[in-house]
Amino acid sequence: MSKQSSKYVCQLCGYVSPRWTGKCPNCSEWNTFVEEAPIPLKLVRKSGGIASKLNAVPLNEIDSVSDVRFVTGLAEFDRVLGGGIVTGSVILLGGDPGIGKSTLMMQVALHLKDKVVLYITGEESPKQVKLRAERLGTATNNFQLLAETNLETITDVIERALPDLVIIDSIQTLFNPNLESAPGSVGQVRESTGMLTRIAKAKNIPIILIGHVTKEGAIAGPRVIEHMVDAVLQFEGEKHYAYRILRGIKNRFGSTNEIGIFEMHDTGLREVLNPSEIFLSERSYGSSGAAIVASLEGTRPILIEVQALVTTSNYGMPQRTSTGFDLRRLQMLLAVLDKRVGINTGTHDVFVNIAGGIRIDEPAADLGIATAIVSSLRDIPVDSQTVAIGEIGLGGEIRTIAHCDKRVQEAAKLGFKTIVVPKTNAKKMKSTKEITIIGVESIQEAIKHLVE
Ligand code: TYD
Ligand code: MG
Repeated sequence: MSKQSSKYVCQLCGYVSPRWTGKCPNCSEWNTFVEEAPIPLKLVRKSGGIASKLNAVPLNEIDSVSDVRFVTGLAEFDRVLGGGIVTGSVILLGGDPGIGKSTLMMQVALHLKDKVVLYITGEESPKQVKLRAERLGTATNNFQLLAETNLETITDVIERALPDLVIIDSIQTLFNPNLESAPGSVGQVRESTGMLTRIAKAKNIPIILIGHVTKEGAIAGPRVIEHMVDAVLQFEGEKHYAYRILRGIKNRFGSTNEIGIFEMHDTGLREVLNPSEIFLSERSYGSSGAAIVASLEGTRPILIEVQALVTTSNYGMPQRTSTGFDLRRLQMLLAVLDKRVGINTGTHDVFVNIAGGIRIDEPAADLGIATAIVSSLRDIPVDSQTVAIGEIGLGGEIRTIAHCDKRVQEAAKLGFKTIVVPKTNAKKMKSTKEITIIGVESIQEAIKHLVE
């Protein structure tokens, strides 16, 4: 392939140009041209060639190699993937720089002692990788390292070595010398992903691609490769906390609502197998403005403390600040409290915080947040042995939540005595000697139980 043969294609209208242009002469859009490698000639079918001899096959006749998976032994990682790595799959691991992507992948590689893992690094020198690996565990001879960024060399090595797993650190450093654009550009990243995906499928080797997230939060710029891979995982966390959360964003072989929780130590990432205990370990016993909710992350219930601080506002415009909870949802809850219960916070600043640097996205936390707000406003602490869960509707009604039984079980397991849940959920459950279940229909009723 010569350099002249690569082409630039407008990503909006498909217009092809031999060189890069700022503005598309066809659709007049700006910055839409991306370099693409030409299709190798042997793949171009002539009429009457192989295409006419190919037949579709009944799905039933295809060998079901259903999900040949292997577990890595890092339980939190395996769970997010839906039970281990599927052979031949391509997994994209995204996250902010410095969050711990290389560390996580190195630990996966070190865990897989009986599998040949090829770790390709384009960012660190072999010495740096070795230094880190020594801190994280002991490597066997199955751990192979390659410091390379040239895509052609990399594909060559993979095809010769045929490892059990390939880790690319990172996809943004790879380049195909046949393309003119720089490593990390959309054209290069897409070309590298495409090439590696073909090898993964052809040789049935799973490949994990590490990708940095841009300022806008998208992996490799405009999400160009998310649709090309089988699974997209996001590694996230607050800079000031040791917790790291691994989230599935897309998964062709499992559910996407599982999360894995890790804690960063000086010897690497440690799995957090019982998150509730961690998130409750620094509870503010006996002070007002705190409530415990049972949030569901994937299939796992996690008990979390939600905190609110309601103070008289010193400025004309009262502030509403929220960390770890949607601000618009908070404003909605304040409006419902005002209209349906007559609790007005119009002259108060309201701060809401989810303890431990975690983010709650599900409506089942509504009741806990509202309870914490009322508790702070009235300066009455919520009973420390009580959990509150339920979605609050605009009419002040407490709506049904999913998997209430799991949440109740987790609360009972951790020694809580009472749990306030939506009435519709409570009807299907019975109190036990460990935990009393209270069903509530409206926010007024819930507040009577919780903060009076
Ligand atoms: P790294 O895996 O290099 O991040 P990424 O590949 O996502 O850019 O992790 C970098 C951070 O992790 C760095 O700030 C130091 C910290 N760290 C530890 O705290 N303990 C450890 O054992 C390791 C290896 C890293
Ligand atoms: Mg790294």
